[in-house]
Amino acid sequence: MIFAIETSCDETAAAVVQARRVLSNVIYSQALIHKKWGGVVPSLARRAHEEKIDWVVEETLKKLKRGGKEPDLAKMDYFAVTVGPGLAIALEVGIRKAKELGRTYKKPLIPVNHLEGHIYSVFAQNRNGNPKRDFNFPSLVLIVSGGHTELVIFKDHLDYEIIGKTLDDAAGEALDKAAKMLGLGYPGGPVIERLAKDVENKDFFNFPRPMIRHPGLDFSFSGLKTSFYYFLKQKGEDFKVKNLRELASSFQEAVFGTLVIKLERAIKKTGIKRVIVVGGVSVNRRLRVLVRRVVRRFKGEVYFPPLDYLTSDNAAMIGVAAYFKAKKGLFLKNFESLDRYPRLELGKEPWKS
Ligand code: KG4
Ligand code: ZN
Repeated sequence: MIFAIETSCDETAAAVVQARRVLSNVIYSQALIHKKWGGVVPSLARRAHEEKIDWVVEETLKKLKRGGKEPDLAKMDYFAVTVGPGLAIALEVGIRKAKELGRTYKKPLIPVNHLEGHIYSVFAQNRNGNPKRDFNFPSLVLIVSGGHTELVIFKDHLDYEIIGKTLDDAAGEALDKAAKMLGLGYPGGPVIERLAKDVENKDFFNFPRPMIRHPGLDFSFSGLKTSFYYFLKQKGEDFKVKNLRELASSFQEAVFGTLVIKLERAIKKTGIKRVIVVGGVSVNRRLRVLVRRVVRRFKGEVYFPPLDYLTSDNAAMIGVAAYFKAKKGLFLKNFESLDRYPRLELGKEPWKS
């Protein structure tokens, strides 16, 4: 059994997993705290993590008990924790807690990359071991979250090659900023999805698809954001209110249109037709429709996290990734000097050297 902790951004989360099976999972979301600021405020995030971490650990044990397992931290084989990428002062809270637990119960610590957690979220199972998805290598991963937009070749367990990434804003961040401009609050992705849902002419304003003329697999969303800003400014407040749904939908189409064009290019370039889409934005049903459409054209297959809670930040995915690291002996017995890595890249393990 692995007890996992995640505090990289604005969710304080803990979970217990046994292999890929999630036995207990608790997420305290700080969304309401950050809402009025239109984005995550690091100092507030840190304070909320500090205030909630013990409660989240306790609740995770209570849930474990309700599932029929002994709620005993001494029964854990390992403690796992997100060490990056993320907000330094937020990561520190989880790492400190994990060290405290590892020290108290004399168990090794497993440092986990947050993005690696997102990738493994697709393979998480319920307590009965479902769904029984097999790992198939290589797979092509599209990570779409608030902090990251990356195309990755998942070559083997814990073996990744990054083939495309955003040069500025992430897809989720672009949606959050557009929502803010529309006066819709934070996080923006869910509100935009809801507003766009029943719009008939989904691409009414036909905003430019950023970077599609750029030959590679990188993304950039800041140009779209800026042109959206000036478009709204020029049209005025009345227009915004009257066309809210079409604006939300057209912006969403521009972001997702770019994602699927680049995904298609990546499939062509790598020849890999097995696709995995993860991260907070991957919960979006419109994105799923567009991704399925592309993958179907190549007669490929696509996997999303099996349950919606696994798309956004959670510790269950950290625990699942940690299980595969434990199997390879990638844990630390001496962890007191373990640091946080705010800009940690996939596949890098700087704590090993
Ligand atoms: O993975 P995540 O929870 O945190 C990071 O690691 O960044 O992703 C959060 C992002 C936010 O930008 C949020 O607006 C977006 O995921 N998101 C959505 C939806 N729900 C959350 N984007 C589009 N549609 C949604 N329904
Ligand atoms: Zn995340």
